[in-house]
Amino acid sequence: MSGFSDKGGVLHVDDVPLPDIAEQYGTPCYVYSASVIRDQFNALKDAMKRVLPADRQPLLCYACKANSNIAILKLLQTLGSGLEIVSEGELFRGLKAGFSGDKIISTSFGKNESEIKACLNAEILQFNVESPDELNNINKFAAEMGKTANILFRLNPDVSGGGHSKIATGRKEDKFGNTAQDIRTLYKLSNEMSNVNPVGISIHIGSQVSQTGAFKPAFEKLAELVVILRNDGYKVERTDIGGGFPIAYNDEQLLDLDAYARLVADIILPLDTQIQMEPGRYMVGNAGVLLAKAQYIKQTPSREFLVLDAGMNDLIRPTLYEAYHGVRSVLNHNTNTKTYDVVGPICESGDIFAKHREINEVNANDLVVIQSVGAYGYSMASNYNSRPLPPEILVDEDNICLIGRRQTLEDLIARENIPKWL
Ligand code: LLP
Repeated sequence: MSGFSDKGGVLHVDDVPLPDIAEQYGTPCYVYSASVIRDQFNALKDAMKRVLPADRQPLLCYACKANSNIAILKLLQTLGSGLEIVSEGELFRGLKAGFSGDKIISTSFGKNESEIKACLNAEILQFNVESPDELNNINKFAAEMGKTANILFRLNPDVSGGGHSKIATGRKEDKFGNTAQDIRTLYKLSNEMSNVNPVGISIHIGSQVSQTGAFKPAFEKLAELVVILRNDGYKVERTDIGGGFPIAYNDEQLLDLDAYARLVADIILPLDTQIQMEPGRYMVGNAGVLLAKAQYIKQTPSREFLVLDAGMNDLIRPTLYEAYHGVRSVLNHNTNTKTYDVVGPICESGDIFAKHREINEVNANDLVVIQSVGAYGYSMASNYNSRPLPPEILVDEDNICLIGRRQTLEDLIARENIPKWL
């Protein structure tokens, strides 16, 4: 069976018992299932196939900020995915993993010179542009390099979407996108520029958008703008409808893929454009766990704390977004339950993975997993408290590969230097 499942009271990833991984690689560590990633990619692709005609299938550009390990990128590249990048570093990773430039789109906010030039060098498919100055810079650098850049303008549709205020991006107070009126002006301006080629419009309203209700008005505003631009006499050949597709972290009811695909068919398909999507979390979120050890059980007058050897430096989502992540013990031998505050070893009270959570009773040294951390887990990890970054392990049926080694203590100081005058 693929993915994470209980076999004989022991949690497995595909065919591999998690205790074997803990023994070989130590804890904490990130463990990913290749088959879950494949299944997610295919589920999204198949939902689109069921609803959209064969010659109008969207290009799925995996938003690699969710998880940018080059092995994960390679896996998605072999499945036929494109890539959405937001930095020169992500471009570098994508090219190393084997993505060709013509499947890469750059959506970064505040694109800098070196990143723009690297993207032009790689002849990426398009730049999604955030502001007039950014457009000017792309045109200028493209002229210097004798290139022409394809441009989409990102629309701010002024809709509220996203599982948390910090990850909603489509409201008028957010820094992202341009108004419809500004895009009309930018389209005109870019048509007069020598080294940019305006080809369409993009949106991205937020992440973990759980209601179709949020996508609908954004799609409608995108469609309205396409009509206006065409009436202005411009070509609009591409629409990029962004990412934001949600996953289940707990038992929440989420919009289903078919409903989403129908929305695309109803509103975007009639525009007769090439369609692009930028899913990140959906591809990898449920494909990863953070495997940790119960370091101590600490009883205080008001709480019982389950102290893990993983901390908020390894997984920041609960601290940063009050995000829910499932916690469970790897061995299911203990049927008594207990209520814990599940915390890490970092010197902050915010270093908490779950508050007042009832799970199977855990003893010191037992293994525990924090679930659904394949997206925005390792990619947001840090060295806070001088803790080395954990290893990442990819499992595919009975194949196990260390795709990112644990940092060493020497790694922590390798880029630092003590001045001679001290
Ligand atoms: N496209 C653009 C332009 C984006 O800004 C993002 C995410 C995506 C696509 C992918 O969105 P997804 O399909 O993964 O929802 N760190 C936060 C999520 C931040 C998302 C930022 N942008 C978290 O842990 O929830």
